[in-house]
Amino acid sequence: MNDNYLNKIINDDCLNHLSNLEESSIDLFLSDIPYGICLDDWDVLHNNTNSALLGTSPAQNGKNGFKRRGKPINGWSSADRNIGKEYQEWVQKWSDMVFPIMKEGAFQFVFGARRTIHRVVNAFENSGFLLKDILAWKKPSAHHRAQKFTNILRNRGLEEELEVWNGWRLGNLAPIYEPIAWFFKPYKITITDNILKHGVGAINTEECKINGSNPTNLLEFGFSKNENKLHEAQKPLELIEFLIKLTTRENQIVLDPFIGSGTTALAAKRLKRNFIGFEINEGYCNTAIERVDDKAAFPHFYELEKEHILF
Ligand SMILES: C[S@@+](CC[C@H](N)C(=O)[O-])C[C@H]1O[C@@H](n2cnc3c(N)ncnc32)[C@H](O)[C@@H]1O
Repeated sequence: MNDNYLNKIINDDCLNHLSNLEESSIDLFLSDIPYGICLDDWDVLHNNTNSALLGTSPAQNGKNGFKRRGKPINGWSSADRNIGKEYQEWVQKWSDMVFPIMKEGAFQFVFGARRTIHRVVNAFENSGFLLKDILAWKKPSAHHRAQKFTNILRNRGLEEELEVWNGWRLGNLAPIYEPIAWFFKPYKITITDNILKHGVGAINTEECKINGSNPTNLLEFGFSKNENKLHEAQKPLELIEFLIKLTTRENQIVLDPFIGSGTTALAAKRLKRNFIGFEINEGYCNTAIERVDDKAAFPHFYELEKEHILF
């Protein structure tokens, strides 16, 4: 059953395929799923048709930055308040399909947004997974837009308010981290027996030392200089490699149903793990396939291939 999918990235909605995968066959689920924050068309996972979402209102015309960020949330529209609920229902649909195909004791890493990760946690727990931790990926930098309140007051001609509000802004603190929810599938025997039986559930900290020290749950990784930006939500290869190395052994299977530009597949391949990937967008899917097939990215693999050691 998994043979049709192993080490392939399929261009389709993963919901059409996840239940075709073999029961209790996946060693690690690692996915940077759509966050449900309207970053782009593929991230709109609700039925709210408010034109300001995704920037189609006249006021947003021609303003690319604002367009992508959607409209501010004021909490008064019931349709807005339903966004989270509908996002959770979407996650639930596929997390229910993921549960049976994971090995007992296997881990799941799910990237999410600070505002919507609790929906993912609820859905995963409803499916039967247990939350182990929420890791923080600390990014090297963060886009930060917090408008000076005095600029708005000045535009409105409210000069007398300027002094009172001097120093105040509208917005958030710089969003420097992203949460990664870390789950496991419950197991029926002792953890040691389960690790010995299924080969999953332990962490290889020795392989994952950071500057000689054991890693913590604050993960600081950035993009390397030669890493091309291929997807607006791309994650650093080094971060994904870290999570795979931490929790899997060679030849085990890593599943990423929302693979984007293929970072998970690339990391898995470099680490001699198997991967199964899905990507609904044809362009991203082609990018991912090209990236994984690129021999230049695999000097080590290429050498082995030349020597007929691998494949
Ligand atoms: C956050 S991005 C992943 C980016 C990836 N981590 C990378 O490094 O390039 C999520 C991806 O999921 C894809 N996607 C959304 N819904 C999907 C579905 N139902 N099935 C498969 N892929 C889907 C989107 O097209 C998008 O490329």
